[in-house]
Amino acid sequence: MNIFHLSDIHYDPKNQEGIRKLQKIIQNINEQITKPDVVVITGDLVWKCNKEFYAPCFKELNKLQAPYLVITGNHDDSQDLQNALKQFAPSHPQSEDNRKLQYVCDKFPVRIIGLDTFKANIGGGDLSEESRLWLEQKLADNSEGKPTIILIHQYTLPTGSGFFDRNAAPWYKKFNQIIEKHKDTVKLVLCGHLHNSLSSQISTVPIISGFSTNWGEELLNPSNSDPKRDFKRPLSYLIHRWENGRFTTYVAELS
Ligand SMILES: [Fe+2]
Repeated sequence: MNIFHLSDIHYDPKNQEGIRKLQKIIQNINEQITKPDVVVITGDLVWKCNKEFYAPCFKELNKLQAPYLVITGNHDDSQDLQNALKQFAPSHPQSEDNRKLQYVCDKFPVRIIGLDTFKANIGGGDLSEESRLWLEQKLADNSEGKPTIILIHQYTLPTGSGFFDRNAAPWYKKFNQIIEKHKDTVKLVLCGHLHNSLSSQISTVPIISGFSTNWGEELLNPSNSDPKRDFKRPLSYLIHRWENGRFTTYVAELS
């Protein structure tokens, strides 16, 4: 099973270069010899919660020749993204309670759980107690021990960036405790938000952030100031390949 991983599209009609980059990545994915079973997009589909940007964003995403799964980022209002999915991607899993975009996708050899951490104007987001209980219940309800991936927007460990670590939220620790408890079945936590690919472990479970399709952000700057944006970085995305009971992650870089 091959999971292609994109993140942080930040679709904005004023940023035509960003749209061209997204188009180039989608074309590259469609032309790969190894086809994705699914493409996951770990949040921030649009810029600053502009709900009118979802229509053109999904018009591009619908050019993918593989199914895709999305989650909210801090730039995606939960309700607006759900409304957009109903309109522009009706086969996408829907939320169970219509409030948060949270779902379990069981169509593949690896179960994929999407989580919603959107909280208006809070970069570090929030995983409410209700959402944590929902996650615990879904992870506990796995008597056959199916391997599981979790999609969540924020990277829930220290990053070395003063800006991102400043936004670290109390829920990160609680989320990490849930992952540790279920480390036998959770094989991977995939996130975004950092615009770069970082990897570490929550207990023994790898957590990996995906590249933004749009721009990179400065890392390892301990100051609290906004990170510098790098619009010239080579376009890249990740491929997580599940084979023989383990994941291998590849970086696909466009020339
Ligand atoms: Fe974000």
